[in-house]
Amino acid sequence: MQKKSVPTFPKRFLWGASTSSHQVEGNTHNQWTVWELENAKALATKAEYVLKDLENWEQIKTEAKSPANYAAGDATDHYNRYEEDFQIIKQLNMNAYRYSIEWSRVEPEEGAWNAEAIEHYKIYTARLRALGIEPIVTLFHFTLPVWFAAKGGFEKRSNIKYFVRYAEKIMNELGPHVKIVVTLNEPTVYAVESYHEHHWPPALVHKKYKVWRVINNMARAHRQTAKMLHAMNRRYKVTIAHNSMYFYPGDNAWLSRVSAQIMQYMQDDYFLRKIIKHCDVLGVNFYFSNRVYGYRVHNPNERLSDVGWDLSPSHIQYVLERLYQKYKLPLIVTESGLADGDDSQRRWFITQQLVGMQKALDEGVDLRGYLHWSLLDNFEWAYGKWPRYGLVHVDYKTQQRTPRPSAIWFGKVIRSLRVADS
Ligand code: BGC
Repeated sequence: MQKKSVPTFPKRFLWGASTSSHQVEGNTHNQWTVWELENAKALATKAEYVLKDLENWEQIKTEAKSPANYAAGDATDHYNRYEEDFQIIKQLNMNAYRYSIEWSRVEPEEGAWNAEAIEHYKIYTARLRALGIEPIVTLFHFTLPVWFAAKGGFEKRSNIKYFVRYAEKIMNELGPHVKIVVTLNEPTVYAVESYHEHHWPPALVHKKYKVWRVINNMARAHRQTAKMLHAMNRRYKVTIAHNSMYFYPGDNAWLSRVSAQIMQYMQDDYFLRKIIKHCDVLGVNFYFSNRVYGYRVHNPNERLSDVGWDLSPSHIQYVLERLYQKYKLPLIVTESGLADGDDSQRRWFITQQLVGMQKALDEGVDLRGYLHWSLLDNFEWAYGKWPRYGLVHVDYKTQQRTPRPSAIWFGKVIRSLRVADS
């Protein structure tokens, strides 16, 4: 790759944050809502067994052992409070925001469109544009209408047409305000968590083979949706939000090196090869790395997030360099962040990432944006509400928003990087 002489973030770099509908909107009704109601008690009962080794167990145990933690419920009521949240995005000097459309609101019953919900997302998206915030729309972020899930969701190839029809409907409405469209958020994570690990609905135990079917159908869904979107407007920049990790050998043994390469291939390339020709940019979600000894992952665990994930934020550099070298598409970091309730690590984490991204840019990577996960504290799927990923703290009782010190700092950094650039 060609080295650039003056290392700076590009002029129109997108600085922002991400959320997803079910995690922040409140009062959604989809396959997750149903599953939460059925599983909240069991998750609360299992919490001690599953989470007791976390360093912060004492602090989180009351919440983690309560069934209420496992239901998204009102979440952050972002559906009604989005104007306040957009103002926070502005205060933080951000110029981009990634969010998802809740399909179950738009099409609550098969073929029955909810005009009010569509109007909501239209106004919402237009408002972002008017505020000078680039809207980055995600069409699927792990939640499905109950009727679609009942038909077998992405397990069935014949169901893909429903997703494409919904995508066409909503994008016809939002079209003029949008440039960047994420069709699917982390399809491989969805398939594995829902069909292999059984942490997420439908959690069909004994049907692990379905994971491959779901992965292939999601690849088809992306390709068909991308074709439809490009026919609608050639200028759309279409991508998925791909979950990457960095795999590296912990020693020089042949087995460690080969295993790390195979794991990296399975993580990134197995799925990306199926869809990359139908992407204009590549969205990358990055949370952690994996150090490989032999054929096992054994991480240094020097710094951990509140959910026990090994933190190596500077490795974002290697993920970006590898994906760019391989696929030659402009990249956007569509998510990266950490659960950090006392905000003691977020500033360090972002600093490491800024350095890593800067180095990747210096190496010639065409990186176009960084969207932190998350703007707000939110409902963290099977963990529930106790993990705090937000740049902005949310008091779930009063819905009061308070930007964390790291957010205020990050907002200043964004401003200074822009000034340095002009
Ligand atoms: C998902 C988010 C989630 C985050 C933290 C990402 O894989 O897209 O929905 O909250 O990770 O776990």
